[in-house]
Amino acid sequence: MPSETKVYYPNPNFSKNAYINSFSQYREMYLQSLDNPEAFWGEIIKQFHWETPVEYDNFFRYNFDIRKGPIYTKWFDGATTNICYNVLDRIVQRGYGDKVAYYWEGNHPDDYSRLTYRKLLEEVCKFSNVLKSKGIKKGDRVAVYMPMILEAVITLLACTRIGAVHSVVFAGFSADSFAERVIDCGAEIIVTADGVWRGPKFLGLKSICDQVMDKCARRNHNIRHCIVVAHLKRVTSPDNSQKSNKVHMKEGRDIWWNDAVADSSITCPPVWTNSEDPLFMLYTSGSTGKPKGVLHTVGGYMVYTAATFKCVFDYKSKDVYWCTADIGWITGHSYGVYGPLANAATCVLFEGTPFYPDNDRFWTVIEKYKVNQFYTAPTAIRALMKYGDDLVRRHDVSSLKVIGSVGEPINSEAWLWYYKVVGGEKCSVVDTFWQTETGGHVLTPLPGATPMKPGSATFPFFGVQPALLDESGKEIEGEGEGYLVFKRPWPGIMRSLFGNHERYEATYFSKFPGYYCTGDGARRDADGYFWITGRIDDMLNVSGHLMSTAEVESLLTEHKAIAEAAVVSKPHPIKGECLYCFVITSNETHFDDNIKKELSLLIRERIGAFATPDVIHNTPSLPKTRSGKIMRRILRKVAVNDRNLGDVSTLADSTVIETLFASRPVCS
Ligand code: WT7
Repeated sequence: MPSETKVYYPNPNFSKNAYINSFSQYREMYLQSLDNPEAFWGEIIKQFHWETPVEYDNFFRYNFDIRKGPIYTKWFDGATTNICYNVLDRIVQRGYGDKVAYYWEGNHPDDYSRLTYRKLLEEVCKFSNVLKSKGIKKGDRVAVYMPMILEAVITLLACTRIGAVHSVVFAGFSADSFAERVIDCGAEIIVTADGVWRGPKFLGLKSICDQVMDKCARRNHNIRHCIVVAHLKRVTSPDNSQKSNKVHMKEGRDIWWNDAVADSSITCPPVWTNSEDPLFMLYTSGSTGKPKGVLHTVGGYMVYTAATFKCVFDYKSKDVYWCTADIGWITGHSYGVYGPLANAATCVLFEGTPFYPDNDRFWTVIEKYKVNQFYTAPTAIRALMKYGDDLVRRHDVSSLKVIGSVGEPINSEAWLWYYKVVGGEKCSVVDTFWQTETGGHVLTPLPGATPMKPGSATFPFFGVQPALLDESGKEIEGEGEGYLVFKRPWPGIMRSLFGNHERYEATYFSKFPGYYCTGDGARRDADGYFWITGRIDDMLNVSGHLMSTAEVESLLTEHKAIAEAAVVSKPHPIKGECLYCFVITSNETHFDDNIKKELSLLIRERIGAFATPDVIHNTPSLPKTRSGKIMRRILRKVAVNDRNLGDVSTLADSTVIETLFASRPVCS
């Protein structure tokens, strides 16, 4: 029986009190959001402060058709506002000043603290004043390389308060990658910390920044200021070492955060920005190596992240919400900072890893803060699933109401485990599909309204109009599989690539004029549910049959011997392409011909004989980026035994390459 025939309904006790409490209500609101965007978003924007109000004649304009001129999207153009004012001052004015904005939970369980909305606003103002005193003004870029600490949130908001554009680089990227991004965005200031512990591992952030500043200087790019949070001295180190005194501070350039804010005023007037002024940029990897600086603007992003956060997590004012994503990724921006704060949410900000000090850290933290909404990635779910149900059951996680997934397709096995073991069969799973580029969720269930199918991101959010296209660009109606595109902009969509509008147009709007092209494939089933099948570049065509690597991977991991799988296409003289499957066996399982046969059979039976894999390659590890994404580009090279790998600098662990080539099965 295909997994999609089983439908899981939202818990009726939950639905009763949900903002959107039935599928028919969702449908009605959805149709209204498309028929009359002015009325739909017009209602939502009322909750925000607009210094210059939104003009209805100027509500939104766009061109998605490259044949008709340059691509652009503008929402609420001409209106002015300030996002920091809206997520802090407005919340305090509404009486939430003493509400906790963040519970900070350190890497070590002994380290924790909290910050109320009022205090957060004061800290933000202080740091805004510091930035101003360093000459930072509206439109300037501020590079941020920070761990998951409160100062990271403060830095982001302090930038937006004065109209500066933050450019966060995940503090796990190498000095080379960081330097490349700093130069590309033209930042002359870096905000960082001395270092951080992640699990048992130490990361010397400031010394990486020193290398970055040297690299920049060699390329005639001068970093004028580096502000450093003295973080290490206030946390418990796993090995009781004292690393805080090893940091080198260059006179005139580097300054400790605490010294900088010491005499700073706790008030700072917000700078009113146009709705279409740049808010932040965030790099995402491009298929051609050079990272793309995705640019978001103020008004649309603010409105969209606020609305999606409220509806998708059904956040109610006493709830505690936890998003595990690092602030260095879009999820950390949209659903770790802006969306929750716009809703006066209480959030957990977690510095550590799921595996430290033990493999039950997530469940410990959920129990400790009585988390109601939990948002994490399939890769974490699959990793934790390996350790068994007991680790979860040892903790009281009954506070959970909504559990979310993001970042990659979630296989039905992982979905079911999440639903049953973590959610206790009473929580809705929100499998949110979106991208750095989309700013917020675009395909997602609503927890009180949408009947769920394990592995499906279900339906579009309000204002989002998806379509599936075939290779010739024709829209596929009803059931079918094709390129996932969007026909019109929602408020939170990216506006450009920083300093490279042509690349923006070429990457997202040139393949199918008139549509925003996600780069993902998707299938619509008979009930209209969307199933993301993976990146288009991971699609393969075997003997004329279009199929997705994600689909095969999900099947492979259904086998009890397989913990993780990655599938790439390999050129084949007769079929065009064939399947090359990399599999990691579960703990203690010895891989043998029997398992191989069973896997082949599984795929033959579930997809069809044409999908029978040509190679099943058992490997102990897969090449991953630091954010946990499998680097298929490398796997495709391994599949054809080509050692010309190109740029591998984003690999988390470069030793896997040798392992992969060494473990290639003979005659493949
Ligand atoms: C790509 C975007 C969205 C924030 C984190 C990733 C894949 C994302 C899902 C999902 C299937 C998903 C897509 C997308 N993706 N969410 N729920 N189901 N695939 O942001 O790094 O910009 O990656 O992640 O392939 O295009 P990103």
